[in-house]
Amino acid sequence: MSHAPASSCPELHAIRAGIPALSRRVHDKPLIYLDNAATTPRPQAVIDAVLAYESTFPANVHRGVHTLSGEATHAYEDARRRIAAFFGGGELVFTRGTTEAINLIASSWGEAALGEGDEILISALEHHANIVPWQLLCERRGCHLRIADVDDTGALRLDAATAAMTDRTRLLAMTGVSNALGTVTPITEICRTARARGITTLVDGAQMTPHMPVDVAAIGCDFFVFSGHKMYAPTGIGGLVSSKAMLDSMPPWQGGGDMIRTVSFAESTWNDVPWKFEAGTPNIGGAIGLGAAVDWLSTIGMDNLANREAALLGDMVSRLESIDRVQIVGTPTQRAGAISFVIEGMHPADVGAMLDRHGVAIRAGHHCAQPILERLGHSATARIAPAFYNTSEELEATEVAIRRVIDVFG
Ligand code: ALA
Repeated sequence: MSHAPASSCPELHAIRAGIPALSRRVHDKPLIYLDNAATTPRPQAVIDAVLAYESTFPANVHRGVHTLSGEATHAYEDARRRIAAFFGGGELVFTRGTTEAINLIASSWGEAALGEGDEILISALEHHANIVPWQLLCERRGCHLRIADVDDTGALRLDAATAAMTDRTRLLAMTGVSNALGTVTPITEICRTARARGITTLVDGAQMTPHMPVDVAAIGCDFFVFSGHKMYAPTGIGGLVSSKAMLDSMPPWQGGGDMIRTVSFAESTWNDVPWKFEAGTPNIGGAIGLGAAVDWLSTIGMDNLANREAALLGDMVSRLESIDRVQIVGTPTQRAGAISFVIEGMHPADVGAMLDRHGVAIRAGHHCAQPILERLGHSATARIAPAFYNTSEELEATEVAIRRVIDVFG
């Protein structure tokens, strides 16, 4: 039985009407967008905020004495304040997204803090963005990358993460939610255990922030990183949340305008945090759009959103389980945002392409997380990533489309 929200709910109808891309048709079918783990569609409220900047006060920040620059600076810094508050406070450094935030930490904190023989601990679930920067750092600094394994359901257990910590572990960098499988990790407990051992902690929140309330202080990590476009904001904006003390202790990672206090040919001195880490003209419109996105999410309520999504995920898992030849890849008890699956005898790319003919948008491939798929015996999967605005009718239509694809493919 389906407990997922139906489109007849007036509140949901209004939310969907406020997301223009959802009214598109694809191959002459109504779009059913189920690729939210890759990126989320932008609400009109976000589009309007970006348009207001681009059309009314398209000026640079922190640099001008004129009215437009003052307006842009106010909007940019006010967005920073609201986004930081959305995550429970702390210092917010704007970055291009999660990937850039992790690279910032690797280049700045990592270069200064890690040396020969030190260990960085990640999990088998990580996105390439939380693997490759550490591999590069290990090459530069002579450190070692260690992996906390998952069980065969794709769940990361606290005891497995704890067992992988050693006296040489200096950094624990782990995801709160797997983008490939949807596994929710016990990240708060893992961070608490790591910090009790003096290990610095980084949480990849890219797949958390769209799906659950996030209080960075309650998680208790040193670094929390996220991407705006996965939480209804434009691409090219995201951030790093940390403490002032931690950011003050770190050297700059990119040089240029705005990150300096003084420059002479002999030496330069650095601006305060967070600007010390924001060299060059930032993505001002993106930051303003991200501010509008967190306002929009706050109006909906992250608890409401999470409850809706739990119902949708349960419904979709049941539907997939009911189809012969479909195997769900990763069956953790705690799931958010994504369901990976394969169909016996079909390549996931063909599944994705054929579903597109039915108007159903999913992702197929390795999801930038090759190690976890290999760990579970696959090189690629199809992935359904619903969001709270999807309806039970859309999930039913997706099930029908999958059955048609299997029938046609044979
Ligand atoms: N990391 C994004 C995804 O999971 C692109 O699809």
